[in-house]
Amino acid sequence: MKAPYIFTTANQKGGVGKTTTVITLGSSLSVFGFRVLLIDLDPQASLTSHLAVEPEKLECYVGDLMTSDSFNPADAIINKYRLKNGGCIDLLPSNINLARIEAELSISKGGGLKLREKLKFFKNSYDYIIIDSSPALSVLLISAVAASDEIIIPVMADFLSARGVDLLLSTITKIEKALNTKCTYRLLITMFDRRTNSSLKSADYFKNKYRNNHFSGLINIDTKFRDASLIKKPLTYIDINSRGALDYIEVAREIINGLDGGDNEGNKK
Ligand SMILES: Nc1ncnc2c1ncn2[C@@H]1O[C@H](COP(=O)(O)OP(=O)(O)OP(=O)(O)O)[C@@H](O)[C@H]1O
Ligand SMILES: [Mg+2]
Repeated sequence: MKAPYIFTTANQKGGVGKTTTVITLGSSLSVFGFRVLLIDLDPQASLTSHLAVEPEKLECYVGDLMTSDSFNPADAIINKYRLKNGGCIDLLPSNINLARIEAELSISKGGGLKLREKLKFFKNSYDYIIIDSSPALSVLLISAVAASDEIIIPVMADFLSARGVDLLLSTITKIEKALNTKCTYRLLITMFDRRTNSSLKSADYFKNKYRNNHFSGLINIDTKFRDASLIKKPLTYIDINSRGALDYIEVAREIINGLDGGDNEGNKK
């Protein structure tokens, strides 16, 4: 495996579980002993807050890394969790200033490739990097896609979620072409409620339409995710036997074992 293997969670639809996936999948990979860096690339800084870091009080943040050539990326890293098995979670935090640098990035030559360049600094430090993106098709998403080996697209198990996926996939393809980069993608069905027909039917729809490009495991609805965000800790560390934590551990296992890898082209246009 190429190390670090870099994921971005992306979906321009809000509230589908992007940030929850970054935190819970990242912590699930860490319990297998992997070193994981989580990057907050959302000016809303939900990931940063969820890990009990106050965005307003940061001395350095991910934006410094993307705008200054001389900035040492290690200076912005916060060591959050160290596990006895060698696994860890570090955070590259965000704050609202990231919104300001979007314009700067979009007009600067090679702006979209800055993050990709800077992440080379972490070549031997992590096994996995997971980037959280905002619910928008923005220049920050361009940076994240350009830096990634794979895009995880969380989709809520309902039909309204189906609409934006093809638009996102064609945007990813355009980014790849423009910047001459390549990444795969997989859908991850979230907030699945097996008691409802719409959940069952929409899960079937996604699995049929994106045949080779979805995780086999799906994420059930679990109120404990909201509790975890209040406690500001990953659910995996609070209650490893909860439904939600077990689902993400299964997805982590799928990633580690390389099961059902995306075919790279799938439904991308
Ligand atoms: N499987 C789940 N079961 C129940 N609640 C969930 C689940 N996954 C996420 N949630 C809750 O849904 C809400 C939205 O999740 P999250 O913040 O991860 O979405 P997001 O896609 O990152 O949102 P945004 O687009 O605003 O960044 C949160 O309150 C979270 O705790
Ligand atoms: Mg989010």
